[in-house]
Amino acid sequence: MSEPVIKCENVYKIFGANAEKMLQDSNGKVDAKTFQENGCIVGVNNASFEVSKGEMLVVMGLSGSGKSTLLRCISRLTDATGGKIFIEGQDLLQLNNKDLIDLRRNKMGMVFQSFALLPHKTVVENIAFPLQIKGVKTEESINKAMDMVKLVGLDGRENYFPRELSGGQQQRVGIARSLAVEPDIWFLDEPFSALDPLIRKEMQDEFLRLQDKLQKTIMFITHDFDEALKLADRIAIMKDGIIEQLDTPANIVLNPATEYVRKFTEEVPREKVLLIKDVMDLSKDDLGDLKVSKDEIIENVAEKILTQEKSVAVVDNNNKIIGSINPTKIINTVFGGRKNNN
Ligand SMILES: Nc1ncnc2c1ncn2[C@@H]1O[C@H](COP(=O)(O)OP(=O)(O)O)[C@@H](O)[C@H]1O
Ligand SMILES: [Mg+2]
Repeated sequence: MSEPVIKCENVYKIFGANAEKMLQDSNGKVDAKTFQENGCIVGVNNASFEVSKGEMLVVMGLSGSGKSTLLRCISRLTDATGGKIFIEGQDLLQLNNKDLIDLRRNKMGMVFQSFALLPHKTVVENIAFPLQIKGVKTEESINKAMDMVKLVGLDGRENYFPRELSGGQQQRVGIARSLAVEPDIWFLDEPFSALDPLIRKEMQDEFLRLQDKLQKTIMFITHDFDEALKLADRIAIMKDGIIEQLDTPANIVLNPATEYVRKFTEEVPREKVLLIKDVMDLSKDDLGDLKVSKDEIIENVAEKILTQEKSVAVVDNNNKIIGSINPTKIINTVFGGRKNNN
């Protein structure tokens, strides 16, 4: 396997005058309460994980759980108090200022909840701005910015000012601006949280379409579990600075590691989240004629399966039978495993 793009090893971020000393004395066992009694706030507590190339890791947790702090450590907007962070194998904390600025300008893109557009510049000028800071000539930067305008579906509005745009459109500009420099690594901190639900859904779909095309390495932050399930390759669930579980959406829904995680999964419509392969049996005995793909969302094939008398064959991309699924399994998946049933 190729080297991870982002790698965190035992990363801590603790706020307060005595933070470093207290962390050293704690031997890595950080108890938030004890720290707080000593004037320290624990932002991130012993985070270790990797993000591979082209992967979207969604960091999910309630407000104050440490999501932004974790992201700020990795983009080095703030210095971690302890641990190691590697970006494409490079030790982030060892970089000098020049290399760091270079890395941020050329490799990393960031999008925040507040769009922070320049009010006196037009859409296309806003998008071209980071390129111009990099020293790209005006005409070239405007051309590139126009490509981005099209990419995010704002053509025709390139000469508008931010105040003439809706929230969703402004965030599209924010996204286009961060993409203009062609970052390999993309950090998004609750980019859609300020948007109305319908616009938000539209932006999520758009974002998935973009990612399908661009294949960036992404860390995406949200406090919305449904958004996490929809977007993530894997989800890291944070509480009090600790990553409680890091797994695929399906595994999190099927096997929540802690009570905190389970609470989030309670109301999730499993049939909309899980795929056939997530719940199929490996047995291939006594199958009927019907076949379903392992990659179907359960909801889309549930009705078909429920009308069968025999088990249904599950096939892979080559139409090879790799397992089976029966009506009981569908019913258990949809109705079982929630609330008190587990
Ligand atoms: N600059 C700071 N100084 C002191 N405490 C901070 C600072 N930034 C964040 N915190 C604290 O760290 C914890 C995590 O905050 P944050 O990462 O912003 O959470 P989230 O993004 O999940 O809402 C919170 O308790 C917050 O109050
Ligand atoms: Mg935050």
